[in-house]
Parts: sequence; C-alpha cells; structure tokens
Amino acid sequence: MLPVRPFVYPAKNSPLTCGEVPLDALAQKYGTPLYVYSADHILYRLGLFAEVFAGQRHLVCYAVKANSALAILKFLDRAGAGFDIVSGGELERVLAVDKSAAARVVFSGVGKTAPEIDLALRSGILLFNVESEGELALLSERAAKLRKPARISLRVNPDVFAETHPYISTGLREHKFGIDILRARAVYRAVARNRWIEPAGVSVHIGSQIRTAEPFGAAATRAAALIRQLRKDGLPIKFLDAGGGLGIEYHLDLPFHPEEKIRQYASALRQAISGLPDLQLLLEPGRFLVAQAGALLARVLYLKKNGAKNFVILDAAMNDLIRPSLYQAHHEIIPVAPRKSPRKLTADIVGPVCETGDFFARDRELPAVRPGDLVAILDAGAYGQSLASNYNSRPRPAEVLVQGKRARLIRRRETTKDLLATEMA
Ligand code: LLP
Repeated sequence: MLPVRPFVYPAKNSPLTCGEVPLDALAQKYGTPLYVYSADHILYRLGLFAEVFAGQRHLVCYAVKANSALAILKFLDRAGAGFDIVSGGELERVLAVDKSAAARVVFSGVGKTAPEIDLALRSGILLFNVESEGELALLSERAAKLRKPARISLRVNPDVFAETHPYISTGLREHKFGIDILRARAVYRAVARNRWIEPAGVSVHIGSQIRTAEPFGAAATRAAALIRQLRKDGLPIKFLDAGGGLGIEYHLDLPFHPEEKIRQYASALRQAISGLPDLQLLLEPGRFLVAQAGALLARVLYLKKNGAKNFVILDAAMNDLIRPSLYQAHHEIIPVAPRKSPRKLTADIVGPVCETGDFFARDRELPAVRPGDLVAILDAGAYGQSLASNYNSRPRPAEVLVQGKRARLIRRRETTKDLLATEMA
C-alpha cells in the first residue's frame, strides 16, 4: 500500500521528494512552473482496479482529458489500459503511442464531427458512446460510406444527481449529456436493423469528483435494467460503460483511503450488474489515476501586503492550473524545503496574471515562505496541464515524469516562439 501521494518529506528538515527524487533539484534543472508526476503512483492506482475488479470482466479506459501527456499514455498502454477519448486530437495522441490501442478506445463527447468519426472508424475503435440521435444518424452515414460498421453504446442520461461542483455534474436530465434513458430503448430498436450500426453497449457518466459510491450504483442500476430490456429485445449488449468520476480528497487533513474508495465503488457496480455475469464493464477513471500522482512546482516571486491582506505571488498562475479559479477547487500548497522556524503566514497565494480570479488559495495559512522559495501545489496531476492555456502569452509549463530513481523531461517548456509560430501579423 502506497501513501495517498508520492510527494513526501523523507525526513524532518529534508526537502520534499517525488518518490525518491528531490523536487528542488528538478526545479533547479528544469525551471518553474513545473509539473512533476510519478509513474509508479499512477501504475499503482491502475493496479488497484485490477485487484478490486478481479473476477469481473472489465477494461479500464483511462480518461485522456485528465492528463494527455504522451509519456503517461504510453506506460498506461503498456500496462494494458484502454482509453476514453472525447476528440480526434485525443485519438491521435493514443494512436501516436500505439496504433493497436485503438481496439481499446471508447469515444465519448456530445459534439463529434464527421472527420473525427471517420478517423475513429478507420482506426477501428472499440466503441462509440453516442450522445444524440443526430450523432447516430451521422455515424450511420459515415460508417456506410467507409464500409466500416460502428460498434455503439448509447450514453444514457440516467437522471441521477451526483453531489459535486455544478460545472462537472452531468447525469441530470437538464444537462447536455446523453440521451434520456426513457427514450433509449426506442432509439436502440430503431437501429436494430441498420447493418452499419452494431449496438454493443450502454454507457453512463454522471459527473466528476464524486466522492460516494451511491450515485454510481444508482446510475449503473438504471443502465443494467435497460440492458436487460435490450437483451430481451434481442440485442447482443456486451458492455456496460460505467463512465468515470471517481473522486479523491484534496485536503491533507481529511482521511482518504484509495483502496477503500475503489472497493466501495466496485461493490456498488457489482451489485448493480448482478444477474448479468457475462457483461463486460468499461471504466473511465481519469482523476483517480493521475491527480494525486502530480504536483505543480512554483517559485515565490514576491511577498506583498495590501492593507491587512498578505499576498504570496508565485511564478505559476491560473493559466497553468485553473482549477481554483474555475471551480473554487482546494489544492494544498506546501513548501518544498520547510524552514526551521515555526512561523506561519496567512495569505492569498496568487499568480502574475492580470485577474483577481488568478489565485491558488485565499486566506490560506502556510509556513512562512520567502521570495525564492519553492512550493508544491498538490493533486495537480489531473486537469492541470490538460486545462492549461497561454493566457497573458504565458508559455505552458514543462513536465517531468519520475519512475523509481529516475526523472525525465516528458514535455519541454513552451517558448514564446512556439506561441507565435501559428500567427500571421
Ligand atoms: N468519462 C467521461 C465521459 C467524462 O466526461 C469524464 C470527465 C471522465 C470519464 C473522467 O472523469 P474523472 O474520472 O476524471 O472524474 N476539469 C474538471 C473535471 C472535468 C471532467 C470532465 N469529464 C476538474 O478539474 O475537476
């Protein structure tokens, strides 16, 4: 059993490490802001799925959007994972790592375009998670044109509420995702005789950062009931794609047991599909695999006081990690080399971007830091770099992957030249 995060102080007064690699040395070598990920930790989390779902046919299709670094996709592919993609770009990433991985790809997303569909058909992906009748019509047309039948599941909207941030909750009828579960049977029937569409599964995804197992169980129970009906209708439904969304704990002082979480999740799903022993589960975790395996390293540029308020200004900003600004998300921020003094500071921890919304934490108490110090923003492995932008013409951070004693650069820091390369003045 590994600690919840690979980022630890190996001894009192020694600097923070990722596994066995000291972070100050990485910041020195590659500069800041810098994303650091532990491959060992990601593989450990992936291994938990194999352990907990043993005896149940299943495939973990990693949600590429959480962190689409090629190096991460590569070792997940080698470990046998499949991939959940939501764009042609994500498919190209997977294919760049391993062409044969297409057979383990599921394609979700409400707005698939004809070129994206064609690429997926030609690559021979496992399953299209179809989100509307319009998409189904286009898919059928493209499949006929290319003479490549499309295996599909309908992404049904189960009308299940999942307690999470409203921006990342997806399973209610009022959300844009999926097809109303009450209409689904009729839609499956309508394609039953279409030779270019092979109904092979039912899929649900109710949201992200969901911290209890019940909503997953409720959604899967509804999907399983639909599968029973469809099988009665004579459709050979093999897959239940249970989506992603398994949450983590971002607070250091709150307990979190990944093994326990995933066990509860597995037992909710198993209960939902009991009586369907030949069903294959597809699981689309993103955050659960990569979030806690990653941190964003930043350097303190300035300390500043405006009235009664303290500010710690970092060289990282909302363009590098937007989660606090966008979802009021909590990320722990800890010094890489803690000072001996017990002095604390309560401050807003902010970046250089020209927006008041550019913050990582507000009124946060942290050990007193000084300009030049390094801090680690924890649990930044998911939806960090993948949501990064060039706002304020800031090049995106470099990324380093740690495996055992080894650390290697997996993406160099962008340069302003990279940013200007696509423009015509
Ligand atoms: N499958 C589908 C169809 C999805 O839409 C998502 C996430 C996943 C799987 C993976 O969900 P996960 O296991 O990572 O929760 N940017 C937000 C999260 C957006 C999630 C979007 N869809 C954040 O930083 O919290």
